[in-house]
Amino acid sequence: MKPAKEIQFPVLSTIEKRWSPRAFSDKLIETEKINRLFEAARWAPSAFNAQPWRFVYATKDHSDAYDKIAQGLNPWNQKWAAKAPLLVFVLAKKTFDHNGKPNAYAWYDAGQAAAYLSLQATEMDLYLHQMAGIEPDVLRNVLEIGEDYDIVAGMAIGYLGDAATLPDDLREREHAAPTRKPHSELVSRNDWTL
Ligand SMILES: Cc1cc2nc3c(=O)[nH]c(=O)nc-3n(C[C@H](O)[C@H](O)[C@H](O)COP(=O)(O)O)c2cc1C
Repeated sequence: MKPAKEIQFPVLSTIEKRWSPRAFSDKLIETEKINRLFEAARWAPSAFNAQPWRFVYATKDHSDAYDKIAQGLNPWNQKWAAKAPLLVFVLAKKTFDHNGKPNAYAWYDAGQAAAYLSLQATEMDLYLHQMAGIEPDVLRNVLEIGEDYDIVAGMAIGYLGDAATLPDDLREREHAAPTRKPHSELVSRNDWTL
Protein backbone atom coordinates (compact mmCIF):
# COMPACT_ATOMS: atom_id res chain seq x y z
CA MET A 1 0.00 0.00 0.00
CA LYS A 2 1.31 3.48 -0.87
CA PRO A 3 1.48 5.76 2.20
CA ALA A 4 -0.91 8.73 2.09
CA LYS A 5 0.29 12.06 0.78
CA GLU A 6 0.91 14.89 3.20
CA ILE A 7 -1.47 17.36 1.61
CA GLN A 8 -0.79 20.99 2.59
CA PHE A 9 -4.15 22.26 1.28
CA PRO A 10 -7.21 20.29 0.12
CA VAL A 11 -7.17 19.20 -3.54
CA LEU A 12 -9.31 17.08 -5.87
CA SER A 13 -9.52 13.53 -4.54
CA THR A 14 -8.20 12.27 -7.91
CA ILE A 15 -5.02 14.29 -7.46
CA GLU A 16 -4.61 12.91 -3.98
CA LYS A 17 -5.15 9.35 -5.20
CA ARG A 18 -2.74 9.40 -8.19
CA TRP A 19 0.71 7.91 -7.93
CA SER A 20 3.07 6.06 -10.26
CA PRO A 21 3.31 2.34 -9.54
CA ARG A 22 5.58 -0.19 -11.25
CA ALA A 23 3.54 -3.31 -10.44
CA PHE A 24 0.51 -3.70 -12.67
CA SER A 25 -2.20 -6.34 -12.71
CA ASP A 26 -2.36 -8.57 -15.84
CA LYS A 27 -6.00 -7.53 -16.29
CA LEU A 28 -6.47 -5.98 -19.70
CA ILE A 29 -8.00 -2.51 -19.90
CA GLU A 30 -11.42 -2.36 -21.52
CA THR A 31 -11.31 -0.65 -24.96
CA GLU A 32 -13.98 1.81 -23.85
CA LYS A 33 -11.76 2.91 -20.96
CA ILE A 34 -8.76 3.28 -23.25
CA ASN A 35 -10.87 5.52 -25.47
CA ARG A 36 -11.91 7.55 -22.44
CA LEU A 37 -8.25 8.15 -21.55
CA PHE A 38 -7.54 9.68 -24.95
CA GLU A 39 -10.81 11.58 -24.86
CA ALA A 40 -9.66 13.28 -21.64
CA ALA A 41 -6.34 14.17 -23.29
CA ARG A 42 -8.20 15.51 -26.34
CA TRP A 43 -9.92 18.16 -24.22
CA ALA A 44 -6.75 19.65 -22.80
CA PRO A 45 -6.16 23.29 -23.73
CA SER A 46 -3.27 24.20 -26.01
CA ALA A 47 -1.59 27.26 -27.53
CA PHE A 48 -3.62 28.36 -30.58
CA ASN A 49 -5.75 25.24 -29.93
CA ALA A 50 -3.09 23.48 -32.02
CA GLN A 51 -3.50 20.19 -30.11
CA PRO A 52 0.09 19.15 -30.86
CA TRP A 53 -0.08 15.98 -28.73
CA ARG A 54 -0.12 12.62 -30.46
CA PHE A 55 -0.34 9.19 -28.88
CA VAL A 56 0.59 5.74 -30.08
CA TYR A 57 -0.33 2.73 -28.00
CA ALA A 58 -0.37 -1.05 -27.92
CA THR A 59 -2.06 -3.51 -25.60
CA LYS A 60 -0.53 -6.65 -24.15
CA ASP A 61 -2.98 -8.93 -25.99
CA HIS A 62 -1.61 -7.73 -29.34
CA SER A 63 1.86 -9.07 -28.72
CA ASP A 64 3.45 -8.17 -32.06
CA ALA A 65 2.47 -4.51 -31.78
CA TYR A 66 3.22 -4.47 -28.05
CA ASP A 67 6.71 -5.95 -28.40
CA LYS A 68 7.48 -3.52 -31.18
CA ILE A 69 6.42 -0.50 -29.14
CA ALA A 70 8.15 -1.76 -26.00
CA GLN A 71 11.46 -1.43 -27.83
CA GLY A 72 10.98 2.31 -27.40
CA LEU A 73 11.60 1.99 -23.64
CA ASN A 74 15.13 1.97 -22.30
CA PRO A 75 16.30 -1.39 -20.91
CA TRP A 76 15.80 -0.37 -17.26
CA ASN A 77 12.19 0.72 -17.77
CA GLN A 78 11.51 -2.26 -20.03
CA LYS A 79 12.15 -4.60 -17.09
CA TRP A 80 8.98 -3.54 -15.28
CA ALA A 81 6.99 -1.36 -17.70
CA ALA A 82 6.83 -3.91 -20.50
CA LYS A 83 4.55 -5.99 -18.26
CA ALA A 84 1.81 -3.37 -18.12
CA PRO A 85 -1.33 -4.16 -20.15
CA LEU A 86 -1.13 -0.82 -21.98
CA LEU A 87 1.92 1.01 -23.29
CA VAL A 88 1.57 4.53 -24.63
CA PHE A 89 4.02 6.97 -26.15
CA VAL A 90 3.34 10.70 -26.11
CA LEU A 91 4.53 12.68 -29.11
CA ALA A 92 4.52 16.38 -29.89
CA LYS A 93 4.10 17.84 -33.35
CA LYS A 94 6.88 20.38 -33.65
CA THR A 95 5.21 22.75 -36.12
CA PHE A 96 1.81 24.40 -36.39
CA ASP A 97 -0.65 22.90 -38.90
CA HIS A 98 -1.78 26.33 -40.07
CA ASN A 99 1.57 27.90 -41.01
CA GLY A 100 4.29 25.27 -40.59
CA LYS A 101 6.16 27.47 -38.08
CA PRO A 102 7.80 25.96 -34.96
CA ASN A 103 5.43 25.50 -32.03
CA ALA A 104 7.45 26.43 -28.95
CA TYR A 105 4.64 25.17 -26.70
CA ALA A 106 4.28 21.69 -28.22
CA TRP A 107 5.91 19.88 -25.29
CA TYR A 108 4.09 22.03 -22.73
CA ASP A 109 0.77 21.16 -24.37
CA ALA A 110 1.64 17.48 -24.76
CA GLY A 111 2.50 17.36 -21.06
CA GLN A 112 -0.79 18.99 -20.21
CA ALA A 113 -2.69 16.44 -22.29
CA ALA A 114 -0.75 13.70 -20.49
CA ALA A 115 -1.80 15.18 -17.15
CA TYR A 116 -5.46 15.16 -18.22
CA LEU A 117 -5.06 11.54 -19.30
CA SER A 118 -3.43 10.61 -15.99
CA LEU A 119 -6.23 12.11 -13.92
CA GLN A 120 -8.90 10.42 -16.07
CA ALA A 121 -7.04 7.14 -15.55
CA THR A 122 -6.94 7.63 -11.79
CA GLU A 123 -10.65 8.38 -11.72
CA MET A 124 -11.27 4.99 -13.41
CA ASP A 125 -8.98 3.11 -10.96
CA LEU A 126 -6.24 2.87 -13.56
CA TYR A 127 -2.69 3.90 -12.72
CA LEU A 128 0.04 5.10 -14.98
CA HIS A 129 3.75 5.55 -14.81
CA GLN A 130 5.29 8.07 -17.15
CA MET A 131 8.82 7.59 -18.43
CA ALA A 132 11.52 9.82 -19.83
CA GLY A 133 13.74 6.73 -19.97
CA ILE A 134 12.92 5.96 -23.57
CA GLU A 135 14.77 5.28 -26.82
CA PRO A 136 13.18 7.80 -29.20
CA ASP A 137 15.42 6.86 -32.13
CA VAL A 138 14.51 3.20 -31.80
CA LEU A 139 10.78 3.94 -31.65
CA ARG A 140 11.06 6.37 -34.56
CA ASN A 141 12.70 3.63 -36.60
CA VAL A 142 10.42 0.73 -35.76
CA LEU A 143 7.23 2.76 -36.24
CA GLU A 144 8.58 4.96 -39.05
CA ILE A 145 7.67 8.18 -37.24
CA GLY A 146 8.40 11.34 -39.23
CA GLU A 147 10.82 14.05 -38.10
CA ASP A 148 8.03 16.55 -37.48
CA TYR A 149 7.15 14.68 -34.28
CA ASP A 150 9.21 14.67 -31.10
CA ILE A 151 8.85 11.51 -29.06
CA VAL A 152 8.37 12.98 -25.60
CA ALA A 153 7.65 10.22 -23.08
CA GLY A 154 6.35 6.73 -22.52
CA MET A 155 3.55 5.63 -20.19
CA ALA A 156 2.83 2.23 -18.67
CA ILE A 157 -0.85 1.95 -17.72
CA GLY A 158 -2.88 -0.68 -15.92
CA TYR A 159 -4.81 -1.65 -12.81
CA LEU A 160 -2.75 -1.82 -9.64
CA GLY A 161 -0.76 -5.02 -9.28
CA ASP A 162 0.97 -6.81 -6.45
CA ALA A 163 4.22 -5.12 -5.37
CA ALA A 164 5.46 -8.51 -4.14
CA THR A 165 6.04 -9.48 -7.78
CA LEU A 166 8.72 -6.77 -8.14
CA PRO A 167 12.45 -7.13 -7.47
CA ASP A 168 13.53 -5.88 -4.01
CA ASP A 169 14.74 -2.40 -5.02
CA LEU A 170 11.58 -1.62 -6.96
CA ARG A 171 9.30 -3.06 -4.27
CA GLU A 172 10.81 -0.66 -1.73
CA ARG A 173 10.08 2.30 -4.00
CA GLU A 174 6.50 1.09 -4.38
CA HIS A 175 6.00 1.50 -0.63
CA ALA A 176 8.01 4.73 -0.25
CA ALA A 177 6.22 7.79 1.10
CA PRO A 178 5.36 10.34 -1.62
CA THR A 179 7.38 13.53 -1.24
CA ARG A 180 7.11 17.03 -2.66
CA LYS A 181 8.83 20.35 -2.15
CA PRO A 182 6.84 22.72 0.10
CA HIS A 183 4.95 25.72 -1.32
CA SER A 184 7.68 27.96 0.09
CA GLU A 185 10.17 26.53 -2.42
CA LEU A 186 7.79 26.58 -5.36
CA VAL A 187 5.48 29.54 -5.16
CA SER A 188 6.35 33.21 -4.88
CA ARG A 189 3.65 35.62 -3.78
CA ASN A 190 3.53 39.27 -4.91
CA ASP A 191 7.27 39.28 -5.67
CA TRP A 192 10.00 36.91 -6.89
CA THR A 193 11.46 35.42 -3.72
CA LEU A 194 12.69 31.99 -4.78
C1 LIG B 1 8.14 13.15 -17.60
C2 LIG B 1 8.37 12.06 -16.58
C3 LIG B 1 9.40 11.16 -16.77
C4 LIG B 1 9.60 10.09 -15.88
N1 LIG B 1 10.54 9.13 -16.17
C5 LIG B 1 10.59 8.01 -15.43
C6 LIG B 1 11.38 6.90 -15.85
O1 LIG B 1 12.02 6.92 -16.91
N2 LIG B 1 11.40 5.80 -15.07
C7 LIG B 1 10.70 5.73 -13.91
O2 LIG B 1 10.75 4.68 -13.26
N3 LIG B 1 9.90 6.75 -13.49
C8 LIG B 1 9.82 7.88 -14.23
N4 LIG B 1 8.97 8.91 -13.88
C9 LIG B 1 8.17 8.82 -12.65
C10 LIG B 1 8.59 9.85 -11.60
O3 LIG B 1 9.78 9.42 -11.00
C11 LIG B 1 7.45 10.04 -10.59
O4 LIG B 1 6.35 10.62 -11.25
C12 LIG B 1 7.88 10.93 -9.44
O5 LIG B 1 8.84 10.28 -8.65
C13 LIG B 1 6.72 11.33 -8.53
O6 LIG B 1 6.05 10.18 -8.08
P1 LIG B 1 4.48 9.99 -8.25
O7 LIG B 1 4.20 10.04 -9.74
O8 LIG B 1 4.18 8.62 -7.68
O9 LIG B 1 3.81 11.09 -7.54
C14 LIG B 1 8.78 9.98 -14.74
C15 LIG B 1 7.73 10.91 -14.55
C16 LIG B 1 7.53 11.92 -15.46
C17 LIG B 1 6.36 12.87 -15.26
